[in-house]
Amino acid sequence: LLSSNARCEVRASTFQGISDLADINWDNIGFGLVPTDYMYIAKCAKGGTFIEGELKPFGPIQLSPSAGILNYGQVFGTQHILFLHQLDVNSLFQGIFEGLKAYRKEDGSILLFRPEQNALRMSIGAERMCMPSPSVKQFLEAVKQTVLANKRWVPPPGKGSLYIRPLLMGSGSVLGVAPAPEYTFLIFVSPVGNYFKEGLAPINLFVETEFHRATPGGIGGVKSIGNYSAVLKAQSMAKANGYSDVLYLDSIYKKYLEEASSCNVFIAKDKKVTTPAIKGTILPGITRKSIIEVAGTQGFEVEERLIPIEELLNADEVFCTGTAVVVSPVQSVTYHGKRVEYGNKGVGIISQLLYSELTRLQMGLTEDKLGWTVAI
Ligand code: COI
Repeated sequence: LLSSNARCEVRASTFQGISDLADINWDNIGFGLVPTDYMYIAKCAKGGTFIEGELKPFGPIQLSPSAGILNYGQVFGTQHILFLHQLDVNSLFQGIFEGLKAYRKEDGSILLFRPEQNALRMSIGAERMCMPSPSVKQFLEAVKQTVLANKRWVPPPGKGSLYIRPLLMGSGSVLGVAPAPEYTFLIFVSPVGNYFKEGLAPINLFVETEFHRATPGGIGGVKSIGNYSAVLKAQSMAKANGYSDVLYLDSIYKKYLEEASSCNVFIAKDKKVTTPAIKGTILPGITRKSIIEVAGTQGFEVEERLIPIEELLNADEVFCTGTAVVVSPVQSVTYHGKRVEYGNKGVGIISQLLYSELTRLQMGLTEDKLGWTVAI
C-alpha cells in the first residue's frame, strides 16, 4: 500500500517497535495538519445506507459548488455534474465530524481509545442533521483501515498520537433548503502533539459575555462544524489579547458555564469535581465522560449540573477536557476584566492525577480494566 503513494521517505526508526516510521521531527509536532498517506471515503445516497468505502491517497477532493455542505452546512461530494473546484480535505468546515486518537505502545502495537463512542456520537449527530451515518461496525472498520494504512505516522510512544478525523457531509447538489441527495463519510489522520501552544503548561481563559457558542434547541450538543465556526470570532479576539481560549456562558441567563471553543470544562472544589450538565448546548465529550468515570474510581464525588460563573471564580482548580486537549489545567480565567488565578499556577493535584490516570490508560501503560482501549 505505501510503496507508490508515500509522500515522505521512510527512514529506519531508532525505535525498536517499528520497522519504518515517517521521516519527520517527532520531537516537534504540535496540533497542525501533517499530510499523511491515505484517507478513507465512502458514499451513500439520501435514504440509503453506507456500504464499504475505499482508501485513497490523501489529497484534494472534488466538490460541487452546489454541494449541501457548502450551501447549507451539510457536506461535500464527488461524482456530480458541476465538479469544478478542488479543495484540500482539511479546508472543509461544514458537516459533522469526530475526533479520536491512536497511540503507539512500546511494543509497536497501536491502541484506539473508545472508538465506538465516536461512532455512536456521529450517528446521533447525523440524525439531528438529517444525514445517514455509517453503522458502528462500519465506522470502526473504516477507522482501523485508515490508521493501519497510515501506520508509519503513528508517533513513537511519548511523542504524541495519531489524530483521526472522521467527517460526515451532505455532498450531493442542492439549491433550495433541503437535505442533500448524496452523503460522504471521509476519514483523514494526522500525527499531533499538544493542542495549545503552551504545550502542557496551564492555559489562560477569557470568559466571553457577548458571543455564544450555542443556544437551546440548536445544534450545540452535536459535533456540527457550525459550532466551531461560531466560536472563531470570540476565540480570535481572545487570542489576540494573549488568552489561550474562550469559555462560553449560556445564551439565556449569561451566567452559567458551558464549554470552551474546543473542549469541555470542569471545576474542582473541596475534593468535589463538577462539570456542566449536558442539556443540548454542550458537547457530550468522550474525554469528559471518561474523566467523570475515572474521577469516580479515584474516589472523587462528581456532579453534572448548572455551574454559575461565581463557582468558576471560586474554584480550587479548573481544567478542560477533550480528545485534542486531553486534560488541560487552567492557570487563570478573566471575567469582566477581573483575572482569577488558581493555586500552584493552575497545576492542581486533581487535574494532574486525572491527566495521568487517563493518559496512562490511553497509552496502554496501565491495565485497562474498563475495556476502553482497542488494539489494532
Ligand atoms: C477534539 O477534541 O477532538 C475536537 O474535536 C476539538 C477540535 C475542535 C480540535
